[in-house]
Amino acid sequence: MKDFVGPKIPFEELKEEELLGEGGAAFVSKGEWEGKQVAIKKLKVPETASTLGFEDEEEETFSNVFKEFRREISVMSGLEHPNLVNLIGVCLDPLCIVTEFMAYGDLYNFLQDTSRDLDLALRLKIAIDIASGMLFLHSAKPPIIHRDLKSPNVLMAAISVNAPVVAKVADFGLSGAMQTVSIKSVANPIWLAPEIMIGGEFTEAADVYSYGVILWEILHRKQPWEDIRFINEIEQKVKKGERPPILGECPPAYAELVSLCWTQDPTKRPPFKEIFERLVAIKQEFFPTDENNKEEKEESIEKKKRGNDEDSGSDESDDSEIDDSPAPKNRISFGEEVSAFDFLKKFGSDELQRKTN
Ligand SMILES: Nc1ncnc2c1ncn2[C@@H]1O[C@H](COP(=O)(O)OP(=O)(O)OP(=O)(O)O)[C@@H](O)[C@H]1O
Ligand SMILES: [Mg+2]
Repeated sequence: MKDFVGPKIPFEELKEEELLGEGGAAFVSKGEWEGKQVAIKKLKVPETASTLGFEDEEEETFSNVFKEFRREISVMSGLEHPNLVNLIGVCLDPLCIVTEFMAYGDLYNFLQDTSRDLDLALRLKIAIDIASGMLFLHSAKPPIIHRDLKSPNVLMAAISVNAPVVAKVADFGLSGAMQTVSIKSVANPIWLAPEIMIGGEFTEAADVYSYGVILWEILHRKQPWEDIRFINEIEQKVKKGERPPILGECPPAYAELVSLCWTQDPTKRPPFKEIFERLVAIKQEFFPTDENNKEEKEESIEKKKRGNDEDSGSDESDDSEIDDSPAPKNRISFGEEVSAFDFLKKFGSDELQRKTN
């Protein structure tokens, strides 16, 4: 994958507004850059035992974070799809990722706000949008495994079923960097495939498992395993093959899809191409006169024709809601010889001084 050649944004050019939230590895704020609304994801400074006291190890840790950041940003920058949160640029001091701003926040919170109506058409549209973004990632060569697909990493662009895009996948390709910088290194087991829990090898099918949990959440509008207090207990259940019960009214084909996606055996889980097609078929069954069906059906037939080996760069969209990337400015290639430690020394220098003194 080529190195990142997108815009390098000087931090002074970013207007930071309110804090939107905090994840394990970053603070996310709303902001503005070149007159556009953006989200600014400021990575936390690593603070592990090895960074305290030993300068060589400290340098190595920082250097690893930077390398990981560099590698993963290059993954992100090569990908554009209407159902992926678009990377706008990076800021190196402090280390930030600047992406498009998603006005309706994350899917996790959106689903839990039961004061909003959520009809079947919108539920299916959200599910189709996520499947479409994931199909694109898995069709890349080599395939990109998200590794941290979960409802907090699905962001909402719109909440009307008539909008061309309602949901986008975020933080793809970032999980490694996030883990490196994360002080909370324990992954959330709610969305974690059992094969990862047991420390075995995993493939794209691990994302399909996570997607199955999201399908369940879209249906139930609550957190799976919400009555279980201990993370460890959830892990034990999932490893044994237990899953949250599928309750309430739902199209049988949808319930079947949830079960298939979170099958214990990863090789029995459907690929995203099949998931996409199954969802489009459910939508057609319930909303046969929907104008959007025609487009999706054609896309589905087209995908079938292209088969699994479609080129990742060939997806196109006429979605006018999607902003194009800003005109390249202050381009930087990560191929430049830069000392990771030099950058990171400046980043959070107070913190660093405290540690090195
Ligand atoms: N592009 C964006 N537009 C709008 N809100 C965003 C954007 N990116 C993130 N957020 C919000 O910022 C919050 C923190 O995001 P972040 O990705 O740091 O944490 P997380 O996804 O909850 O956990 P993790 O650290 O595992 O990624 C989330 O609650 C999300 O709603
Ligand atoms: Mg996230």
